[in-house]
Amino acid sequence: MIEIEKIDLTKIDEKNGYIFESKILKDELLIYFKDDKYYAVSSFCPHFGGPLEFAKNEIKCYWHGWKFDLKSHKCKNRQVNCKLKDYKIVIKKNILEISNGN
Ligand code: FES
Repeated sequence: MIEIEKIDLTKIDEKNGYIFESKILKDELLIYFKDDKYYAVSSFCPHFGGPLEFAKNEIKCYWHGWKFDLKSHKCKNRQVNCKLKDYKIVIKKNILEISNGN
């Protein structure tokens, strides 16, 4: 079943990203802005669930240092086939609609 979380765009800190717990999607989301586009990913690292942070133009996990590509969401500094859980975003007026659909 497709679930949709709606967020007012004014809440998003485009420079540092925005993390919030979505009861609808049952995940803590990290939303960030890159090259004129918004992205939403789970804020939990796919390695062992460490907290992710968006800073200095990258997504990083501080537990073991994995870094993730901002567009493909794949791990970019380890030889692993691993990717962040990501969500679809549609913008309607000033609202981000984040969903678990394709
Ligand atoms: S839990 Fe994130 S790198 Fe290990």
